Amino acid sequence: MQSNSNIQRVKNKLLVMSGKGGVGKTTMAVNLAYALSKKGFKTGLLDADIHGPNVPKMLNLEKEKLAVKGNKIIPVNIRENFKVMSMAFLAEKEKAVIWRGPLKHKLIRQFIEDVDWGELDYLVIDLPPGTGDESISISQLLNKITGSVIVSTPQQVALLDVVKSINFSREMNIPIIGLIENMAGDIFGKGRVETIARENGLNFLGSLELDKKITESGDKGKPFIVNNTYDISKSFNKITDRIILLSKQKKRKNKFKKTNSIKINNLALKDEVCWYKKA
Ligand SMILES: Nc1ncnc2c1ncn2[C@@H]1O[C@H](COP(=O)(O)OP(=O)(O)O)[C@@H](O)[C@H]1O
Ligand SMILES: [Mg+2]
Repeated sequence: MQSNSNIQRVKNKLLVMSGKGGVGKTTMAVNLAYALSKKGFKTGLLDADIHGPNVPKMLNLEKEKLAVKGNKIIPVNIRENFKVMSMAFLAEKEKAVIWRGPLKHKLIRQFIEDVDWGELDYLVIDLPPGTGDESISISQLLNKITGSVIVSTPQQVALLDVVKSINFSREMNIPIIGLIENMAGDIFGKGRVETIARENGLNFLGSLELDKKITESGDKGKPFIVNNTYDISKSFNKITDRIILLSKQKKRKNKFKKTNSIKINNLALKDEVCWYKKA
């Protein structure tokens, strides 16, 4: 089931995931990939959200179409060391894409095997919310995933969904790099994601405020990290450095804990169902 293609030339594969939509996964994935490329790493960004591919919007690549050379798909090159691949480069705008499970798997396989990623230090993968087909396919097709970066807002309802992402990573044997708190502040609160990380022996990567500059930069198609004078950019740079450091560590303390319960406010929540099967 695992892919044996040029993806072998990718040193680190990072999954950006969350149980819920709208918590800032794509924003984190885009800025993380940009920050890595800015630090000189050869970086790829794979938008694996087939139904709602937002990466091109956040990078102002909406007019881009894919090129094909020989039997390889050429990703869009933003900067010398930053390549992007998204379903949006293939689909007609504003048309709902209807893909059933097996077709999605085929498409994701193409994104991994047939895209000419070349040699990469990091491939950042922006997953759709939850633990559906795309997440399962990616996890099965990529061998040796470096780890998952789980994004959550500090709201109680979002936190319940964090459990699913943590359990998914554990079930798929994907090391959890850590948790990011996004949209912290007066509206959603602050600090709860760090508490969950601590209670479950996971790394807390940092917190990013709810900030209009983030929404605006996303809408303009320019990652906020481009402007390194912003406080949010300074916070996010630290998050990126932690991710780089943890990606290097071969044995993470949270690599794979044999437990099926997650603690929130010290209440152990059982993983009620196993809704996916291993390859
Ligand atoms: N920290 C933040 N402050 C303000 N707006 C944010 C923040 N993080 C994300 N957003 C905005 O919230 C919306 C949803 O973010 P997005 O990254 O698309 O979430 P997801 O990929 O999880 O669905 C976008 O409009 C984005 O610009
Ligand atoms: Mg998204």
